[in-house]
Amino acid sequence: METVCILIYIFLLLSTLLSYPFIKKQMRERIQRPKLPPGSMGWPYIGETLKLYSQDPNIFFASKQKRYGEIFKTHIHGCPCVMLASPEAAKFVLVTHAHLFKPTYPKSKEKIIGPSALFFHQGNYHTCLRKLVQNSLPPDTIKKLIPDIEVLAISALESWTSKGVVNTFLEMKKFSFDVGILSIFGHLESSYRELLNENYRIVDKGYNSLPTNIPGTAYHKALLARKRLSQILSGIICESKEKRLMEKNLLGQLLSFKDEKGKVLTEDQIADNIIGVLFAAQDTTASVLTWILKYLHDDHKLLEAVKAEQMAIYHEYGGQRPLTWAQTRNMPLTYRVVLESLRMASIISFTYREAVVDVEYKGYLIPKGWKVMPLFRNIHHSLEFFSDPKKFNPSRFEVAPKPNTFLPFGNGVHACPGNELAKLMMLILIHHLVTKFRWEVVGSQGGIQYCPFPVPRQGLPATFWKTPINLEQDVCP
Ligand code: HEM
Repeated sequence: METVCILIYIFLLLSTLLSYPFIKKQMRERIQRPKLPPGSMGWPYIGETLKLYSQDPNIFFASKQKRYGEIFKTHIHGCPCVMLASPEAAKFVLVTHAHLFKPTYPKSKEKIIGPSALFFHQGNYHTCLRKLVQNSLPPDTIKKLIPDIEVLAISALESWTSKGVVNTFLEMKKFSFDVGILSIFGHLESSYRELLNENYRIVDKGYNSLPTNIPGTAYHKALLARKRLSQILSGIICESKEKRLMEKNLLGQLLSFKDEKGKVLTEDQIADNIIGVLFAAQDTTASVLTWILKYLHDDHKLLEAVKAEQMAIYHEYGGQRPLTWAQTRNMPLTYRVVLESLRMASIISFTYREAVVDVEYKGYLIPKGWKVMPLFRNIHHSLEFFSDPKKFNPSRFEVAPKPNTFLPFGNGVHACPGNELAKLMMLILIHHLVTKFRWEVVGSQGGIQYCPFPVPRQGLPATFWKTPINLEQDVCP
């Protein structure tokens, strides 16, 4: 018995001695392993989602940053997240270490847009599709769109004058949709345009609804409309192929693509990317345009100055010819109004990525699988980078912002390829608006609504009317 006890003691002693280096290594690793960022994970399962949406989300982000600093953890939409609120952190995630993070969207949203849309992807497929989108939007191509964008802007503005009170945001959505269609297809038969419009509107409604795929729900209707969109696009593709219409627009780029092995894109890949670009272009541009109208409406002196700048351009050709590319590139004050609106409204307050491996940033651990959110809005509203950040002040853009402090179009491999087109259409709409029309905001002027991008409450109800151009009076001093 005694011998057995001695043997057990020897065995225990030996196994402790042998495992000591292993335990020591583990302890060292545990001590050295970077810690999670500060922050709170909220309640089990729901985390801090209710807290985020029970108030203006921007107050949530700003109060967290005040409490924890530029990097903090939280738990929203069922996922652990790390939020980052500094220019360096945004650059780290989106540019220098972009390969460590992948885009991430809920599956329900991917299903509606189409899983092959470029912004759901990373790597070769993304690079290849992104090139095609970029090739459809170079300056040489978008400058040729100016006369058509002008026609769309004028016809939209004129239609508002006869509608009484309009929901500015909804009207801007129509305008942005039409410009999107123009840049994707060029001149598209009106029957196709109407069919796309009708079905896209149903898709758009379902995108932000509860993803319950039960007949009668907005989500279910959206999935059905999305199928119809694929069929309509298939018809357009078939016709373009028959007519051998391989233009430089996005449809032409997608149709004429062949990889190094001669493989072409499938119809699903083409449809998903067309819907994806329409989706990326519409609400974003429409929200910013709505804010621009509000900011100009609220600052009479600024509006008069913008009008003077635009009237001077109008008088260059007596308003008889379309705007030239050079004119759209020489609207310094109006351009600064656009930039300041992008900063103030920060309609894309943040973006989402997911860490594909454990990542260390400034001594903190971002665990694999966690969501990572660079907070553009916090950066745009930081006193450190923009003096008096709550004030609408276009003159701040007389000096270029510091690197990575102004990111309305994102940065890095997923940065917005449509940013020049977006700015062009905003400048064109402002030109025609201030030279030929007036508008008055109706009702309460405060408040923000999330659609899901922030827009003035009720979409900025406003009335529009045409003003005769008084050549004498309106000439720029
Ligand atoms: C004022 C209007 C717009 C704003 C503020 C805006 C903003 C953005 C931002 C911030 C991103 C990057 C998102 C991320 O990194 O996760 C993005 C991506 C994108 N935008 Fe825009 N955008 C606008 C208009 C447009 C327009 C007019 C088009 C197309 C004609 C467009 C097409 C795209 C596409 C395709 C992507 C995905 C790029 C990729 O994943 O590689 N956007 N946009």
